[in-house]
Amino acid sequence: MQRLVVHEGDGNALDVAALKRLAGGAYRLISIDGGHTAETTAHDVAIAAEALAPGGVIILDDCFNEMWPGVSEGVHRYFREPRGILPFATGAGRMLFCAPGAIPLYVDSLRAIATKTLVHNFLGARILCCDFAPLPFTERIGRDRRWRGRRGQNRQVLSAIKDEIHELAPMLRRLSGESLNPRGVT
Ligand SMILES: C[S@@+](CC[C@H](N)C(=O)[O-])C[C@H]1O[C@@H](n2cnc3c(N)ncnc32)[C@H](O)[C@@H]1O
Repeated sequence: MQRLVVHEGDGNALDVAALKRLAGGAYRLISIDGGHTAETTAHDVAIAAEALAPGGVIILDDCFNEMWPGVSEGVHRYFREPRGILPFATGAGRMLFCAPGAIPLYVDSLRAIATKTLVHNFLGARILCCDFAPLPFTERIGRDRRWRGRRGQNRQVLSAIKDEIHELAPMLRRLSGESLNPRGVT
């Protein structure tokens, strides 16, 4: 990072011109995680959208966090009228926005790194819903081409593997505990 600017103050008092001055121009990436009320969220998204460089992305925290419904309300308020940005993806507790022309590039990249994706409608846009959690063992196996080809025959084998893992688990836990404890290493 070549330049870090720390600006302290009420985000609601910040306008587009001031925001751009802080960066010396438009932004390629803006992460919003400030006030979680509807008013503040709508304001923050509005000035971020105006301060965004072509192809830039806004990341908004907590859009679907049940502890902070104001964030979702703020997004809905902002998108009551047509805007130059659209929501295009959600995942890891964040909602992502950018100009329509830049969406395919980002969606392709997200598809490549997410473990699971679904596409849903949100505020009139198609958004990619991403799960980044590692897949459980059974799903990883289930996706394997060799496994899929013999799905009917594989159920018993899978159940045997799961039993095996279940039996091995206490031993693995004990071994990892011993390797973490220097006195346990001989
Ligand atoms: C969820 S915290 C996130 C902080 C930081 N982004 C992080 O991840 O550690 C939200 C922060 O925004 C601050 N905040 C709330 N309303 C604000 C406003 N109107 N202007 C500036 N900051 C605000 C809160 O005080 C709090 O520190």
